Amino acid sequence: MAVLPQAKLHAVASRSLDRAREFAAQYGATHAYGSYEELFQCPDLDVIYIATPHQGHFPWTMRSLEHGIPVLVEKPFAINSRQARVMAEAAQSKGVFLMEALWTRFLPTMERLQAILREGSLGKILGVKADFGFQPPFDPQSRIFNPNLGGGALLDIGIYPVFLAQFLLGTPSEITAAGCLGATGVDEELGILMKFPSGQMAHLHATIRVQTKTEAFVYFERGTVNLHSRWFEPTTLSILRPSERPEILTFEYPCEGFSFQIAEVMRCLDGGLKESPQMPLQFSIELMETLDAIRNQIGLSYPEALEQPE
Ligand SMILES: NC(=O)c1ccc[n+]([C@@H]2O[C@H](COP(=O)([O-])OP(=O)(O)OC[C@H]3O[C@@H](n4cnc5c(N)ncnc54)[C@H](OP(=O)(O)O)[C@@H]3O)[C@@H](O)[C@H]2O)c1
Repeated sequence: MAVLPQAKLHAVASRSLDRAREFAAQYGATHAYGSYEELFQCPDLDVIYIATPHQGHFPWTMRSLEHGIPVLVEKPFAINSRQARVMAEAAQSKGVFLMEALWTRFLPTMERLQAILREGSLGKILGVKADFGFQPPFDPQSRIFNPNLGGGALLDIGIYPVFLAQFLLGTPSEITAAGCLGATGVDEELGILMKFPSGQMAHLHATIRVQTKTEAFVYFERGTVNLHSRWFEPTTLSILRPSERPEILTFEYPCEGFSFQIAEVMRCLDGGLKESPQMPLQFSIELMETLDAIRNQIGLSYPEALEQPE
């Protein structure tokens, strides 16, 4: 927000008033609240950014929509596609803006990829290969490993390669996944193969057991686009054409890249839009449907309280 002249951090809420006050002082928020519920009474809010661990996305989005306050909710949009549909329906019936904060979607590199696809300079798209792996310290209470917080590789980082495949290729017609659940019962590693209606393929890998290169390749008839490591926040793409030197494209960001999704929210709100054309609610629902299908195949389930409503 600091790099966007028209953005203002108006209020912050934490489960602890001390933490909220500390954050407000550090980042210049006008109001600080010691519970999330109090935030809804804050005057002059344009939009709430929900950045809790995954179990909080559905209930706090619903509460915010009930109060008629627009929402930017972190990825994954929800725990499952049932919740995603309920959230989308609530936003639509109340006429309140809602968007998933899948920040990679809004980076200039994604626009460039779409342009390559649209212009057809490399021919038709044939497939995607992407990985995302890192090795967090094992802490069963952390949101990465704790099933009560919606932990596991798929919802935390596997969502990025799945997003890339669906962003470029649409909804898969076949999904095959294998995964390993760890000591806390959440998935620590998974491999996903997807087939798309026109015969394209996606080969995806996510792991919290080991650091992987975390790069992506998008295959076309006449070349490959390599999104350099770490591809979900890339500043460099290489276009690889057979028998030619790589064409390297570099992008400058004013910060890590979160500003692009914030700018999109501001653009939508200023234009009176109820959802983002770049990240429509239907896309978030379909992404959750794929994650559900993968979870089903690898035997990943969460405590009943997280999966509500049935
Ligand atoms: N970490 C990243 O780089 C990154 C990048 C992109 C997206 N995300 C997404 O952003 C969201 C938050 O990730 P994070 O890494 O920031 O998570 P985190 O540090 O574990 O939690 C963020 C905050 O959520 C609040 N919270 C609410 N209920 C909680 C609970 N039951 N247990 C623990 N904390 C709880 C806590 O604030 P208070 O206690 O002050 O209320 C905590 O500081 C996730 O959806 C994640 O997928 C993260």
